[in-house]
Amino acid sequence: MSNNPTQIFADDVQEEKGENARLSAFVGAIAVGDLVKSTLGPKGMDKILQSASTGEIMVTNDGATILKSIALDNAAAKVLVNISKVQDDEVGDGTTSVTVLAAELLREAEKLVNQKIHPQTIIEGYRLAASAALQALEKSAVNNSKNKDEFRKDLSAIARTTLSSKVLAQDRTQFADLACDAVLRLGGTTDLNHIQIIKKPGGKLSDSYLDEGFILDKRIGVNQPKKLKNAKILVANTAMDTDKVKIFGARMKVDSTGKLAELEKSEKEKMRQKVERIKNHGINCFINRQLIYNWPEQLFTEAGIMSIEHADFDGIERLALVTGGEIASTFDHPDTVKLGHCDVIEEVIIGEDTLIKFSGMGEGGGKACTIVLRGATEQLLDEAERSLHDALAVLSQVVKEPRVTLGGGCAEMVMAKAVDSLAQKIPGKKRIAVDAFSTALRQLPTILADNAGLDSSALVSELRSEVYRGMSTSGLDLLTPGGGITDMRELGVVESYKLKKAVVSSAAEAAELLLRVDNIIRAAPRRRERM
Ligand SMILES: *[C@@H]1O[C@H](CO)[C@@H](O)[C@H](O)[C@H]1NC(C)=O
Ligand SMILES: *[C@@H]1O[C@H](CO)[C@@H](O)[C@H](O)[C@H]1NC(C)=O
Repeated sequence: MSNNPTQIFADDVQEEKGENARLSAFVGAIAVGDLVKSTLGPKGMDKILQSASTGEIMVTNDGATILKSIALDNAAAKVLVNISKVQDDEVGDGTTSVTVLAAELLREAEKLVNQKIHPQTIIEGYRLAASAALQALEKSAVNNSKNKDEFRKDLSAIARTTLSSKVLAQDRTQFADLACDAVLRLGGTTDLNHIQIIKKPGGKLSDSYLDEGFILDKRIGVNQPKKLKNAKILVANTAMDTDKVKIFGARMKVDSTGKLAELEKSEKEKMRQKVERIKNHGINCFINRQLIYNWPEQLFTEAGIMSIEHADFDGIERLALVTGGEIASTFDHPDTVKLGHCDVIEEVIIGEDTLIKFSGMGEGGGKACTIVLRGATEQLLDEAERSLHDALAVLSQVVKEPRVTLGGGCAEMVMAKAVDSLAQKIPGKKRIAVDAFSTALRQLPTILADNAGLDSSALVSELRSEVYRGMSTSGLDLLTPGGGITDMRELGVVESYKLKKAVVSSAAEAAELLLRVDNIIRAAPRRRERM
């Protein structure tokens, strides 16, 4: 035992204090920012992630995926990862931007701390700056939702911007259209469960397509018609065999083949009765999560009912949602069970496989659609799905909050301008902090240009002088070779206002949180008591 009277921690607890703790917070957060910053923007690089335990490899440039996969020991780095997770959950994209901006804010703060400016002063300056930046952002946001064509253009542009930083970059116009079509069908809900994504290896990414309706990766029962019109569907989760008989049969000493036949007969009879009860619902299609078995299937065939067995749980949940039915597990009161409906059920062939397609769902179900992704490898398809999912999540949010801002570093520069003009009015050291916030904002266009292999210092100072002169729609054209500085609205580089707002406010909050750190306590894992 230590006899130091001021020691409040156990011997194996390490404590970092004051400057040291803050330094360690800066170092960790800045390192995380540097790690993901090369993936930012349409020309960002991919990272290869390899699992330490299984050796599995994933190629991605999705900031959230990268951050989720790395094990971090630094407390500050963990805070940034957490913030990017929140961004991912709430807005669906912008994880790299939020991480990079927070790291840049801390990089600037570190310089100020080294100039002996108190963290509290930096925090105050950052707060003023963040609120000026957000005000300018809101002022620059445009709401086109009254005009259907304009709004669709905005949506499609946002989708292209979201997708352009991902594997789908080459086919992004096509995928942007897919994503817009899918989201506009939703008619305002953000429930992405109506949009099903099916991945089928083979073919090219550009062979992917959107199909109205719902596709189930299962088989229609043997000898049943492969197409059904005006379907009345009972979606169920029930065991078609009677467990009691099975258990009873297994325990019982079966001493003669006669006895066995009798058992089989009684089991069959029970199944028949169940099928009768199901038939009483007046249906022409029965879909079960569990197995149906040959004998009941044969009974359904004879009754002219299409039966589909062993649909996975996710499958029947969505099926019930899109056909407007409910999942039944008892069948004694047909009048209380809500059946699903659709115009046509038929077999379709995708790639090498036969699947079942449900189309022509009534109200509610009209929202449903399936995006069939094709591509050479599973890895490519997985990354394409992630990327498409981001775009769908962002678009569904934009349908709810339709305001948009401009990409290509434009919005950041507009915010930086507002922050700079605020700085003019602020005296003393706080002003230096406000200036630093503006510098951090201008780092985003710089990183975009660097990642595109452009001369960032020349371009960004040109962009800065244009925007500061009042050309508030100028930004960097990163895709056209030799693109330089262009009007982002004309180029169609649009981003969601909600996303951008979340990036700025979360990054500022994260920076503040880490600036407040003056104490990191690291406890060793608890040791087991010696016997
Ligand atoms: C992230 O931060 C929030 C709020 O600060 C907290 O509630 C949450 O548990 C954190 N999540 C992780 C994964 O650390
Ligand atoms: C955007 O415009 C639509 C249609 O004019 C309006 O209903 C909606 O409230 C506006 N949204 C915002 C956030 O201003």
